[in-house]
Amino acid sequence: MRPAATVGAGALILAMSACGGSLPRAPAEDAASGQQREGRALYGDHCRGCHDGAGGSGAVLSPRLLASHFDAGSLYAYIELAMPYDDPGSLGPAAYWAITAYLISDRGLARLTEPLAEGSASAIRLRVRPDG
Ligand code: HEC
Repeated sequence: MRPAATVGAGALILAMSACGGSLPRAPAEDAASGQQREGRALYGDHCRGCHDGAGGSGAVLSPRLLASHFDAGSLYAYIELAMPYDDPGSLGPAAYWAITAYLISDRGLARLTEPLAEGSASAIRLRVRPDG
């Protein structure tokens, strides 16, 4: 049986080579998609049950509905102020930015190449794609 330290080192090398696969991508892209991945999980935990589930009290969040909030900053502001409907403001800014980034990207309302954040969000217009 191998000592635990050797097993640990092997796992570390495996983890490092797995990361190597994403090296050619720009760092900004990695951070943006990381934020969206986080937002997707948070949306699943805190929002989906009301919005996309059968019988939920909230509407299905279609591209058209979300784009009516005009830009990323105002969509963020609404979600932070009002959602989750049963516990508004409870998630903290980082979670709200991540959820907003996920919704914008997933519904194709804008192409986010950097993590969504306070300074830049109001410059990001939300537009419904012709097929959305
Ligand atoms: C307990 C159920 C519930 C949960 C959980 C919930 N919502 Fe809602 N949501 C609603 C209801 C009800 C409305 C309509 C509110 C109104 O008209 O005042 C709404 C409205 C919205 C709208 C506005 C839609 C429009 O008309 O423009 C957005 C965007 C939204 N929710 C996003 C979210 C996000 C993101 C989360 C998770 C952080 C979330 N909601 C969690 C029930 C919920």
